[in-house]
Amino acid sequence: MVKFAQVKGFLFDLDGVIANTSVYHAKAWHQLADELGVTWTEDLGNQLKGVGRMDSLNLILKYGGKENDYTEDEKIKYAEEKNDNYLKLLDTLDKSEILPGMEDFIKDLAAHHYLISLASSSKNSPLVLEKLGLAQYFDEKVDPATLKHGKPDPEIYTRAAEVLNLKPEECIGLEDASAGVTSINGSGAISVGIGDPKVLHEADINFNDTSEVTLDNIKKEMDKKKF
Ligand code: G6P
Ligand code: MG
Repeated sequence: MVKFAQVKGFLFDLDGVIANTSVYHAKAWHQLADELGVTWTEDLGNQLKGVGRMDSLNLILKYGGKENDYTEDEKIKYAEEKNDNYLKLLDTLDKSEILPGMEDFIKDLAAHHYLISLASSSKNSPLVLEKLGLAQYFDEKVDPATLKHGKPDPEIYTRAAEVLNLKPEECIGLEDASAGVTSINGSGAISVGIGDPKVLHEADINFNDTSEVTLDNIKKEMDKKKF
């Protein structure tokens, strides 16, 4: 494992790391689960975090024992319905929904000349970054539509390092989702889990919330672990 001084890039998840939008995704999925007659639980909500649109719908159906009840066309319609509801929730999205400390953290990274890429599974991520006024800080973005496998597969984090011309080992990935931490770990990058450490126990470094995420704190945690 590399030392903090060898780190050259940061790979960001978006929903639940930079933006307070994972609650909107959850709200829209919860609404659809109700409509499909699948009981919503916190555990189901955690399973869906970081997971792409169709994979999320399939997880919900499986959770409710309804995985064989719908045709592909019907499933596409339900996924579109969820997205329409999600987009309505984004209507009023602005800078106030940037999670605590994240704007300063991203600006600090840019000021220190770290390379920054986006590793979000969301096809709505360009819109969200624009609305938050943060798009200009990202050197590169992975387009989730070009991926063969979604999180927890490592592909998205491997690509997020590659588009910066870096090795994953030279990068730190930041995630609020268990599927995302698994993805970072599989790529070889250092994983920072933000949120409940019990849910994110696989992460190399844990922070309880985004306000703790600073370059100093990451360095301190890496020094403690002797990366
Ligand atoms: C992110 C969110 C998930 C969401 C996925 C796909 O990873 O954490 O909750 O399902 O993106 O988002 P999309 O906006 O493309 O439906
Ligand atoms: Mg997330």
